[in-house]
Amino acid sequence: MNEFWDSKYSVNEYVYGEEPNEYFKYAIDTYLPSGRLLLPAEGEGRNAVYAARKGLKVVAFDQSVEGKKKALRLADKAGVKIDYRVGELPDLPLRGEAFTAAALIYAHFTPQLRPGYHRMIGNLIKPEGLIIVEGFSKKHIEYQDKYPNIGGPRNIEMLYTLEMIRSDFDGFEPIEWIQGEVELSEGSSHVGVGNVVRFIGRKVS
Ligand SMILES: C[S@@+](CC[C@H](N)C(=O)[O-])C[C@H]1O[C@@H](n2cnc3c(N)ncnc32)[C@H](O)[C@@H]1O
Repeated sequence: MNEFWDSKYSVNEYVYGEEPNEYFKYAIDTYLPSGRLLLPAEGEGRNAVYAARKGLKVVAFDQSVEGKKKALRLADKAGVKIDYRVGELPDLPLRGEAFTAAALIYAHFTPQLRPGYHRMIGNLIKPEGLIIVEGFSKKHIEYQDKYPNIGGPRNIEMLYTLEMIRSDFDGFEPIEWIQGEVELSEGSSHVGVGNVVRFIGRKVS
């Protein structure tokens, strides 16, 4: 349970929209024709439902019960099944499960949790499997006043650098990595221009 996210998701609309994140869609369409996908911090389920519609087996988790309710509603509407668990990563019975890929889409964990969570997520991915990341960069802090509906954490410590992501996932050979501006139009909560990091890596060890 998380009060902030439960209350944000307690509205009828999907606050990040019902369509998948564009980079996520590109990554799945380009690199992941089949397999088991882990979606940490999946919120209202837009990415999970897209992947399930493409035939991937999806396991998602989030700390928000309200996020889960909306994700299951979206899955029902699309006629697909997703396995969506509520809780913190170390408490979830995921050990022993192996994934073809994991995608972290705007999954901004606290600096206390992030390195451990990223390591655990990396360990759940099979050799040759993929890690896919899109999140706000530290430069994003300069965009939030100009674009008040762009969203993202206002605490710079929760934002990413490419070096951070590459180092958290150092057992992955980088396939694509970039930091830069992006125009977002995701529901009512990611609207405007922001600054993001994107990373796709393949597990080598
Ligand atoms: C910006 S939303 C992104 C949701 C989704 N990935 C998407 O792209 O639509 C961030 C999500 O991270 C989740 N989250 C943040 N910290 C978490 C944690 N420690 N454990 C599980 N979920 C977490 C929040 O509950 C929220 O749903």
